[in-house]
Amino acid sequence: MLRSAISDYHDVDEIYRKLDRLITQPIRPIARPVMQEYLAYFEQRCAKSKEMIDVAKEYIPGGVQHNLAFNYPHPVVFTKAEGAHLYDLDGNRYIDFLQAGGPTVLGSNFPAVREKIQALIADCGPSTGLFHEYELKIARKICELYPSVDLFRMLGSGTESVMAAIRVARLATRKKKIVKLGGAYHGWSDQMVYGLRIPGTRGFEAHGIPSACRRHTQEVKPNDIDALESTLNWNRIRGGTAAVILEPIGPESGTRPVAFDYNQKVRELCNRYDALLIFDEVVSAFRIGLSGAQGYFDVTPDMTVFGKVVAGGYPSAGGLGGRRDLMEHLAAGLQGNKKRAMVGGTMAANPLSSAAGYYTICEIEKNDACVKAGQAGDRLTAGLNRIIDKHNLPFVAYNQASICHLETSATMFIPFSLIGIRNFLKEVKSRKHMMEEMGAAYMAEGIVTLAGSRMYTSMADTDEVIDDALTRFERVLEKTEPTQSS
Ligand SMILES: Cc1ncc(COP(=O)(O)O)c(C=O)c1O
Repeated sequence: MLRSAISDYHDVDEIYRKLDRLITQPIRPIARPVMQEYLAYFEQRCAKSKEMIDVAKEYIPGGVQHNLAFNYPHPVVFTKAEGAHLYDLDGNRYIDFLQAGGPTVLGSNFPAVREKIQALIADCGPSTGLFHEYELKIARKICELYPSVDLFRMLGSGTESVMAAIRVARLATRKKKIVKLGGAYHGWSDQMVYGLRIPGTRGFEAHGIPSACRRHTQEVKPNDIDALESTLNWNRIRGGTAAVILEPIGPESGTRPVAFDYNQKVRELCNRYDALLIFDEVVSAFRIGLSGAQGYFDVTPDMTVFGKVVAGGYPSAGGLGGRRDLMEHLAAGLQGNKKRAMVGGTMAANPLSSAAGYYTICEIEKNDACVKAGQAGDRLTAGLNRIIDKHNLPFVAYNQASICHLETSATMFIPFSLIGIRNFLKEVKSRKHMMEEMGAAYMAEGIVTLAGSRMYTSMADTDEVIDDALTRFERVLEKTEPTQSS
């Protein structure tokens, strides 16, 4: 078995106990005068960014194109990425714990991959629409590393790949129902904008999506095997379940972790209820280990969704792999005697993305990058927990290898209740604003995080980088103070 980056599986019950405690307390934001100083950083040190974003607002909705980083008080414009660091338009340097939202396990802009891509572009440009050897190379590499993958089809994004997985599952099983875990994000297709972020919210965020699109999507409480069984049982006499889809590390990149044996139990239930098991490894593949979270948990899914690292931080990152009989439904062209699940994409499996993914995976393998990035994640989390204990803070830090969580406002843990909807929305507003402030404060201290609560570490994060980050984190965390009421 390939080496996994998780050194020690965390105590899931203990994490939930701490998170429960955090969510029942009033928020503890940064002291007001200190927050004013942090906001002044953006005025004084990010003036060129602000100027550009003000112009961008004339042309781009909200002035920015992507949702990954919080943009409070305004987005910052980045001009250079190198290893563990990012540089903005005004020349400020940051420790980069966003890592493009996850794909760059090697660190940003890894030279050995970049050189191969530059050579490829010089030869054939980024795409031809026709077969290139790298299409074979990346498919063969993934089939070698993932025993559950007999065939691999590269696609344009994680969202598309989830759509393809669901389409194949429905075609192969002739069933319709798809079960996901509450709070999980599996991309933004019509049928998957359901039960996002906070379990139980169902179609709450499905603005602009007819309810018929999610008629066959169901959510169950995460980490609760009985809840899954009762849904599968309910479906049994109503046409059955086509597939259960989940992130094996838990919804939202493990923000809601699952017990170590949860995935195995889900596998058994899928077998018993004749449903397919789809692992969404968009985040965990090539990060938890070269054979993904499925290698670590030693559980075999029927299909695996890939994204992010599969193109090493280059564009068009998506793919679907799985059992031969299922994947054959994705045969391109007119051949094949099976009914075909329609998928496509002008840019799918273009030479640039295929080569970037292939060389990234080779470099990860050569450098043992998942393990190194995981050790950096362990060091960061241990340091954050020391800071939390030292200052007697209610915050919660935990990690799965290089995927690190620092919950200070626990926004995703607010219990959803339609009956108490006003209080729910009020709570979301104040806790989300605290997350924005934390994100801005980290940024002013020279650290870029994902939405002020998640950090991806990479192989470029040496002990010095992590220790430097911890000093900066401590300066923010020690300046939080309790509010009188939530
Ligand atoms: C678990 C998971 N699945 C699917 C997706 C969607 O991938 P993409 O952004 O490439 O469409 C994401 C994106 O963050 C993700 O985290």
